[in-house]
Amino acid sequence: MAPTSCYVRAMTELPREGRSHDAILSDLASLRDDDAKWRDGKVMSLVYDGGEAHQDLLKRAYSLYFSENGLNPMAFKSLRRMETDVVKISLALFHAREGAVGTMTSGGTESILLAVKAARDRAKKSGFFTGTPEIVVPKSIHVAFDKAAHYFGLKIRHVPLADDFRVDVRELSRMVNRNTVLVAASAPQYPHGVVDPIEEIAAITRARGVPFHVDACIGGFVLPWIERLGERVPKWDFRVDGVTSISADLHKYGYAAKGASVVVYRDMTYMKHQFFVATDWPGGIYASPSMPGTRPGGAIAAAWAALQGLGEAGYLDLTKKTLSAKKKLIEGIDAIPGLSVLGAPNSTIVSYASIDPTLDIYAVADVLEDRGWHVDRQQRPNCIHCTLMAKHDGVIERYLEDVRGAVAEVRSDPTRKSRGNAAMYGMMAKVPFRGMVRKGVEKVMESMYGPDGTLDLAAASKEGPVMEKLKEYAPAAFDLWDAVKARIARR
Ligand SMILES: Cc1ncc(COP(=O)(O)O)c(C=O)c1O
Repeated sequence: MAPTSCYVRAMTELPREGRSHDAILSDLASLRDDDAKWRDGKVMSLVYDGGEAHQDLLKRAYSLYFSENGLNPMAFKSLRRMETDVVKISLALFHAREGAVGTMTSGGTESILLAVKAARDRAKKSGFFTGTPEIVVPKSIHVAFDKAAHYFGLKIRHVPLADDFRVDVRELSRMVNRNTVLVAASAPQYPHGVVDPIEEIAAITRARGVPFHVDACIGGFVLPWIERLGERVPKWDFRVDGVTSISADLHKYGYAAKGASVVVYRDMTYMKHQFFVATDWPGGIYASPSMPGTRPGGAIAAAWAALQGLGEAGYLDLTKKTLSAKKKLIEGIDAIPGLSVLGAPNSTIVSYASIDPTLDIYAVADVLEDRGWHVDRQQRPNCIHCTLMAKHDGVIERYLEDVRGAVAEVRSDPTRKSRGNAAMYGMMAKVPFRGMVRKGVEKVMESMYGPDGTLDLAAASKEGPVMEKLKEYAPAAFDLWDAVKARIARR
């Protein structure tokens, strides 16, 4: 069955004649009726909203360069000029020294993929490296590093976290070996919003002569403003001797349009391994600084416009409101019996969990969703994630009211946790054999992207393949797991 929406019938065949523009635009507007309501501040991830006037500027900037292609800087000098400006502004914000360089990319994942690839190729070209290249990263680091290792044939070593959710530096030091081509850490990490101990890690990488990447995809364009506002922010940028590269997303707290990030390096000796050049293609000599071929001009122009449009004062104002929302959220959550904020988030992300075994946090999430909030559920430990921004300052009281209501509702109905998403996420988080969870999720992806393209997500995720697979295998998996544990205990 083709994908359907309640409002617009599926249109899987090319219309014989082009349709009226009004009809198309009206369909497009209706299609998003079921989407997460970010305009009302009901989404705490995914969308970074700098306000209506700012969005309007981005749209106009984007459409001015809608057709231009950053692949060829000689053809579109304007885009090269804008990219240079954006990179230079970023380098100044990150306290880079002379000689630092960088490029724009399409997003955090591409910036990370490139940093890992550059580190791998740098090590290989050194002539001393023969083993399987390895990267050493905290368990909490963004999965784009796992993707990079998977795509580029590296081994990834995950370092456990300390009780405060920052990486355990002693363990990290133990895992660095002669095959390590890159160590990476976050400023801050996504799951709990804490900045890893960058200075301590840099002391290790310096001593061992290993490059060190800081993933500041979230923090790059907000930590500098938090620091300017007088809050204590642990050092994370090029001021730390030993940090060799940084990723930072303009399309997050840079409040740019989607499709904009930077990856920057201490100097060209690191960045040159990012580039790709082919000399024998019949289409001509081909040189590309980053992963895509075509580079959308609109995203570059909108990022340039975002920086110019907000300026220091604009970013400071947005950050001040964001911090106000964060303070209210932390105080409000910690005042609810049974809930607690995780760690001491020193950025703009707050995650909270249940500290009462009778209160299921995923059931709380379900009730919040019933009340119109888009909720990000996390695992290990099970918790709810909130990426805050300025807009949330105006809605956080309402959010807290709904969290209090959700907690009361879950407490009054003990069956809540065994229904719907709460049951599915609860089981997925607990199943000991992760290969089974992977299989279930792969099945959902196959049904979403398969030839029938069913987009009945409710069925796919709640009662569809994941749930079926887990229901089928989970009891046996838990039994087997108990048996394994008992056997280990007997030894
Ligand atoms: C810390 C961190 N790094 C990297 C990424 C990947 O960014 P993108 O989704 O733009 O590829 C994210 C995304 O949320 C992130 O939070």
